[in-house]
Amino acid sequence: MSSMEEMRGLFDVKGKVAVVTGAASGIGEGIAYAFAANGGKVVAVDIKEDELSRLVRNLNSQNADAIAVKADISDPESVKEIARKAIEKYGKIDALYAVPAINVRKKIFDYTYEEFDRVIRVNLRGTFALLKEIGLEISRNPDGGSIVVLSSIRSQIVEPGQSVYAGTKAAVLQMARTLAAELGSKNVRVNAIGPGVVDTPLTAQIKNDKEWYSAYADKSPLKRWASVKEIAGPCLFLATPAASFINGTILFVDGGWTGIDGRYEPKL
Ligand SMILES: NC(=O)c1ccc[n+]([C@@H]2O[C@H](COP(=O)([O-])OP(=O)(O)OC[C@H]3O[C@@H](n4cnc5c(N)ncnc54)[C@H](O)[C@@H]3O)[C@@H](O)[C@H]2O)c1
Repeated sequence: MSSMEEMRGLFDVKGKVAVVTGAASGIGEGIAYAFAANGGKVVAVDIKEDELSRLVRNLNSQNADAIAVKADISDPESVKEIARKAIEKYGKIDALYAVPAINVRKKIFDYTYEEFDRVIRVNLRGTFALLKEIGLEISRNPDGGSIVVLSSIRSQIVEPGQSVYAGTKAAVLQMARTLAAELGSKNVRVNAIGPGVVDTPLTAQIKNDKEWYSAYADKSPLKRWASVKEIAGPCLFLATPAASFINGTILFVDGGWTGIDGRYEPKL
């Protein structure tokens, strides 16, 4: 039988410790604010030191509890350092957000091997290092935990120019599912979030092209792009008790983009 007591705190992250990577910009920054604003502690990670320090100063000046760790996620030694600093400060890690990714939008014939390596290094090797090193620490948490990787609608559907990025976004989903299979017995859940188009520096190239920008809004059922907050909310949710049976899956936060093809509206 259900009770008020059982349902209380369903959406709570109070006292939980999250490692939020890519926190100096866009979606990662939004997750850091969302986690802190709801009572969680934040280990904010990014390669951009100044922006990261500004974020943590801002958070702590508003009664949050956050630390900054500058790290390149594609370097395993600096990822191990994130885990060390998180444990030193907070004694545990409850949640990981594996956020950073880069994109080079070019047709395959124009893509260079240097660009291929650069995208793979951050998106795939970086996410792998986070799952391996921070995931290991979460697996030691007696309360279990939640790991969220930022995938994309591009893990499923593409357009010209998305080859390597889309490949990495499908790959991180499969890595998340695999880790979910490996850590389920430790009560660690691993999921992916699949955003649609979100207004961040990553999509500045699209925003700067009026036709491209408005086509993405017009072809979407909600007729607009997502805000960072609309992605941060579902990311936060996955760390709450309300998500305790959500595991090994992808949650699309795309305003209906992957549900509706949007190519033609019949005159009915
Ligand atoms: N913006 C979108 O429309 C959109 C859509 C679908 C999926 N996503 C995914 O969401 C995630 C976040 O995207 P965003 O739009 O917030 O991007 P963003 O470019 O605004 O932010 C990415 C952050 O990651 C950091 N970063 C990059 N390389 C790093 C490295 N090696 N080590 C540490 N930090 C590094 C950057 O400094 C930056 O602060 C990405 O995984 C992206 O693929 C974004």
